[in-house]
Amino acid sequence: MKKVYRHENNAFYWDRRWSESGEDSERFDDLSIYPIRYAEIMMTDRSKKTLEIGCGLGRVLLHYYRDGFSIAGMERSQVAVDKIKECHSDVDVRQGDALDLPYGDGAFDIVMAFGVYHNLEQRIDQGLAEVSRCLSQHGKFCISMRPNNVEMHLNEVYWNWHNRSKKMGEKQFHKVLVGEREFTEMLSESGLIVDEVHRARNVSLLYRLPFLRSRESVEGSEAVRRSKGYRLNAAGRYIDRVLRALFPYHTANVLVFVGHKD
Ligand SMILES: C[S@@+](CC[C@H](N)C(=O)[O-])C[C@H]1O[C@@H](n2cnc3c(N)ncnc32)[C@H](O)[C@@H]1O
Repeated sequence: MKKVYRHENNAFYWDRRWSESGEDSERFDDLSIYPIRYAEIMMTDRSKKTLEIGCGLGRVLLHYYRDGFSIAGMERSQVAVDKIKECHSDVDVRQGDALDLPYGDGAFDIVMAFGVYHNLEQRIDQGLAEVSRCLSQHGKFCISMRPNNVEMHLNEVYWNWHNRSKKMGEKQFHKVLVGEREFTEMLSESGLIVDEVHRARNVSLLYRLPFLRSRESVEGSEAVRRSKGYRLNAAGRYIDRVLRALFPYHTANVLVFVGHKD
């Protein structure tokens, strides 16, 4: 496990991002992109009670809520919760901490958490124990983490270079990067058994190069990019495909763990 530090506290980072972003769209246009592609593996039965931990501005939560699923959202950032509530007062979303879930034992059949546990500097084990506690017997989970690989390390090099001229304070915890086996073991210590690990792509590192971005990505808002995916143009897609074929682990920027409670 590797800890990454930046000149901005993690909770402050998310509050800032969510206040700068517009609203999330209520639907994903493309079901093949992260994270909806992986949520689709879980969401096959409208009667199953589902919780999304760290739902952000609600793009996954709202997608399934609008489709008639029984889904609740929980999020640490009050900024994000207020934004969802402002437009969708009927949605069950509450502010809380993944380390102390405000729900009863066995309350959910499915728990999803996209990009949440890598935000915890300490006690990831406690967060996973909370998932296990809130899942019903044989309940299912889908949890994504940032991998400890070349792509993520290059991403930090880029971030430091890109922000080199900004006046910065002391470095603070930003996220943790984990290995596939390492996190599979952490899950199993909480009685969460991994059935599949997917090496996924959220934003390609190539997307950092503006000349490799698709036109709609350059012109659209952050909300558009979040619902359509951070798309590359034809040249970008070609280079990306070659790199992915050659280095499947080191070009993933999200690991998605899908499994069940023991
Ligand atoms: C990568 S974002 C993902 C948002 C959403 N799942 C999505 O895919 O659009 C991670 C989210 O986890 C939230 N988060 C971070 N630490 C948390 C914690 N301890 N408890 C609950 N949510 C947390 C952040 O505020 C942020 O909204």
